[in-house]
Amino acid sequence: MWSFNGAQTMAQLELNKDDQIASGVQRAIFRHPFDKTKLVKVLKSADEMPQRSNFNGRMDQLLPSTRLRQVRKEYQEYLRLMLKTEGREARIPISHMMGFVSTNLGLGCLTESVTEADGTLGKTLGELARSGSLKDEDLDLLNDAVSRIYRLNIRASDMNPKNFVLGHRWQGTALGPRECVLVDGFGDIHAIPIRSLSNWTNRLGLDDSCARLARSAKLRWDKTNRAFTRRKES
Ligand SMILES: Nc1ncnc2c1ncn2[C@@H]1O[C@H](COP(=O)(O)OP(=O)(O)O)[C@@H](O)[C@H]1O
Ligand SMILES: [Mg+2]
Repeated sequence: MWSFNGAQTMAQLELNKDDQIASGVQRAIFRHPFDKTKLVKVLKSADEMPQRSNFNGRMDQLLPSTRLRQVRKEYQEYLRLMLKTEGREARIPISHMMGFVSTNLGLGCLTESVTEADGTLGKTLGELARSGSLKDEDLDLLNDAVSRIYRLNIRASDMNPKNFVLGHRWQGTALGPRECVLVDGFGDIHAIPIRSLSNWTNRLGLDDSCARLARSAKLRWDKTNRAFTRRKES
């Protein structure tokens, strides 16, 4: 006879603190314990988060629900994109999101890993820009990602250099082509969701985000051609 056993309803994924491979402001990033194609993002508890005095930081402290709202908005944007393209877009410019999993460290969000061919985690645009190792090919990959962000009209509210990762995604059992992927910061998180009003208002927002991204990654934003170029040496 079938009997209900609470322990069988949802297996908990055991994460090892030593397997944490990156850390953002909101989330701690872990390798998946037995699936090399995936990462697990766990929301940090309020006391683990760096204290920030800017608007977003104050909102996180005063209203913890804003953090959950961000996760919800991120998922909403992913769903919007997948349903709009009906899965026909071979390479979406944002990371695929694969649902949630219960872990010993809290709720985990499953996502695809962007890695180098040797299995190490892909570097962010921020790391490459800071160390002066951003190659011309990387810049081409960034521009390719940004052109797909515009073409698909992705609501990207936080295009900062730490949210773009360069590397390969898994396609079945093989690594796909090298690319630049927006792994965080998509979804219209603003209090007044102006970007979601229309594709036109979103493009204005993207223009603004790209200009800001250029400043922080020490690049130049060519608004007419919607492309990043290197700054001329002075
Ligand atoms: N899919 C991914 N593939 C490779 N590295 C990633 C991926 N997602 C996040 N990272 C790394 O983890 C860092 C923090 O992740 P992120 O999702 O941006 O967290 P937060 O929401 O806290 O900013 C990123 O800056 C990047 O270095
Ligand atoms: Mg981030």
